[in-house]
Amino acid sequence: MTPAANPGPRNTLAAGALGRAVTRALGPRGLNDQRRLRRAVDGKIAVVTGASYGLGEATARLLAGAGATVVLGARSVDRLAAIAGEITAAGGSAVALPLDLVSEESVAGFAAGVLDRFGRVDYLVHNAGKSLRRPVHLSYQRPKDLTSSTGVNYLGPMRLTLALLPAMRAAGSGHIVNVSTAGVILPAMPKWSFYLSSKAAFDFWMRCVATEARADGVTLTTFYAGLIHTRMSAPTPWLREMPGQTPEQAAQVVARAIVTKPNTLTPLYGHLAPPMTPLVRARVELLLGRLDRRISDSRASRAGGALAAPVVPAPRVH
Ligand SMILES: NC(=O)c1ccc[n+]([C@@H]2O[C@H](COP(=O)([O-])OP(=O)(O)OC[C@H]3O[C@@H](n4cnc5c(N)ncnc54)[C@H](OP(=O)(O)O)[C@@H]3O)[C@@H](O)[C@H]2O)c1
Repeated sequence: MTPAANPGPRNTLAAGALGRAVTRALGPRGLNDQRRLRRAVDGKIAVVTGASYGLGEATARLLAGAGATVVLGARSVDRLAAIAGEITAAGGSAVALPLDLVSEESVAGFAAGVLDRFGRVDYLVHNAGKSLRRPVHLSYQRPKDLTSSTGVNYLGPMRLTLALLPAMRAAGSGHIVNVSTAGVILPAMPKWSFYLSSKAAFDFWMRCVATEARADGVTLTTFYAGLIHTRMSAPTPWLREMPGQTPEQAAQVVARAIVTKPNTLTPLYGHLAPPMTPLVRARVELLLGRLDRRISDSRASRAGGALAAPVVPAPRVH
């Protein structure tokens, strides 16, 4: 199977040695030690959502390469089956199960499929995500923006956790990795309302749950990812100009989460933002809003017919 298109940075500075050095300096660093990873995951059951593309695919391949039995979940069943087939052909162990996080029945069926087959989950990687960068006036007539972002980023992962956590707690062990975004620890940004709010909601919910589940041996790492060059970030032109991690580098961060089980993993600015944010938040948000009004809506954000027949006027530029 040809690997998924994970478009790298377009800008030669970002793609070159300087860009790689910036990415390395910002971190978070991944685990580049296959033997440590193997000690942690060999013979274990690892569930990876959103394993058909990007970071999820890279994570599934990495964990399977270290001896885990990986359960791959996503909607693109042909891709999942092909990835699982490649893992198996290389001597690994993988099962592909359909999963649509927006559908309550699909999540229930996926969780039942995991528990019927294996009876336990050692690692649960909440990786599937739906990004949306669209000004809110283009979403007035698009209820799908609301249902898909909350379904994939918030309600679906909540339902999946509720279905799998009892077995993890009963076993007295297990580690959950939530792939969140550094955006949720930065000031609010125009155009990202659905994505960032749904990621933030699940982040908080998962952390609350972890305070309870820890007593039963189930722990949580939240990976506040910075830019990863995948098909998710590719439609936003300015992100293509920036240095960022490859899916394989980000998968090594997930591996580090699994092996060392820290509470959080974040790029450098994720450490700096929390103490700074209360001081600058209001001004930064005002400034971003003003700047945003000078920038026209991208082709990607207009996709889906929202602007093909505009029914709602764009807000005025002051
Ligand atoms: N790329 C970045 O710059 C970046 C930055 C910060 C955080 N993140 C986070 O990193 C994670 C991985 O993103 P990525 O960059 O690897 O994106 P990606 O390449 O677009 O992959 C997203 C994955 O989510 C799955 N997915 C989407 N909708 C789904 C649904 N309804 N049900 C089940 N699975 C669904 C997709 O599979 P199907 O389409 O086959 O269902 C795909 O496997 C996400 O949680 C994202 O929020 C990414």
